[in-house]
Amino acid sequence: MERTLVIIKPDAVEKGAVGKILDRFITEGFRIRALKMFRFTVEQAREFYAVHKGRPFYNELVEFMTSGPVVAILLEGENAVKRVREIIGPTDSEEARRVAPMSIRALFGTDKGKNAVHASDSLESAAYEIPFVFSNLELC
Ligand code: PPS
Repeated sequence: MERTLVIIKPDAVEKGAVGKILDRFITEGFRIRALKMFRFTVEQAREFYAVHKGRPFYNELVEFMTSGPVVAILLEGENAVKRVREIIGPTDSEEARRVAPMSIRALFGTDKGKNAVHASDSLESAAYEIPFVFSNLELC
């Protein structure tokens, strides 16, 4: 069993897609081990995305992720990191609509920035991101 972090981004929260996205992961067989809605501060978003510091999109990414509330979900399942990445589709929602039309980013995202969801891209990322967002007391 693996654990991975999904964050439903401000664009998908704003358009009321939280329920549909949660339902998709449950239908795909994952267990929800923790769940919460919150709004990143600029400091927190910069730290969460520290791996992208210096990239041309970094400031835009931080600005977007702090623009409204997000919903974080800790998912558990077999091969969860890789399977969740497949279910969400490519980073760019426009590309996702071409190559993976049923993916979450194809269905609920707009482009490379406003792409509806984040998911840990490796076990190492999950090990950084999960305790960043959830405390021990919040894990079920
Ligand atoms: S990587 O590391 O090169 O594969 O980067 P990538 O997966 O393409 O993107 C990493 C995260 O940066 C976000 N991103 C952007 N945000 C705003 N504007 C622009 N132009 C932009 N380009 C990439 C992208 O949505 C990824 O966010 P997460 O939350 O990790 O999905």
